Amino acid sequence: MANFNLNINGEKQQVDVDPTTPMLWVLRDHLDLPGTKYGCGIAQCGACTIHMDGAAMRSCILPVSAAEGKKITTIEGLATKKGLNPVQKAWLEHDVPQCGYCQAGQIMSATALLNDNPNPSDEDIDAAMQGNICRCGTYTRIKKAIKTAAKEY
Ligand code: FES
Ligand code: FES
Repeated sequence: MANFNLNINGEKQQVDVDPTTPMLWVLRDHLDLPGTKYGCGIAQCGACTIHMDGAAMRSCILPVSAAEGKKITTIEGLATKKGLNPVQKAWLEHDVPQCGYCQAGQIMSATALLNDNPNPSDEDIDAAMQGNICRCGTYTRIKKAIKTAAKEY
């Protein structure tokens, strides 16, 4: 066990865990941030996607030791006092989720894409989102919502 100082959603947090503990479990079990979901645990589904210094990362394979000193954002930290992030608003407008389980990861990947590329082509969207699996098949609505959100970037 060791102490780690983390920056999560703009707040300083300290956890005492094994250095190999994946951030997914640090967030869910130690910091009471259950919005980040466990799907596969082997970087194959995208349900656990968070941002590390603005880039989409799979928290199920990100050890806490690699997150120290970085800026971590989870789905709980996307909205600001001003309101929902444009991606979240577009998700509501297009009524994207079905069961909802994959959607936090989808939104985190979409947000990272638009932060990096505010005017993505269809191919850019496919490339950025292809690793986020949705068992309910909401892919068409996800793409429409990303295009709507891009108008606000
Ligand atoms: S739970 Fe991390 S990619 Fe599936
Ligand atoms: S909305 Fe059900 S898995 Fe994506």
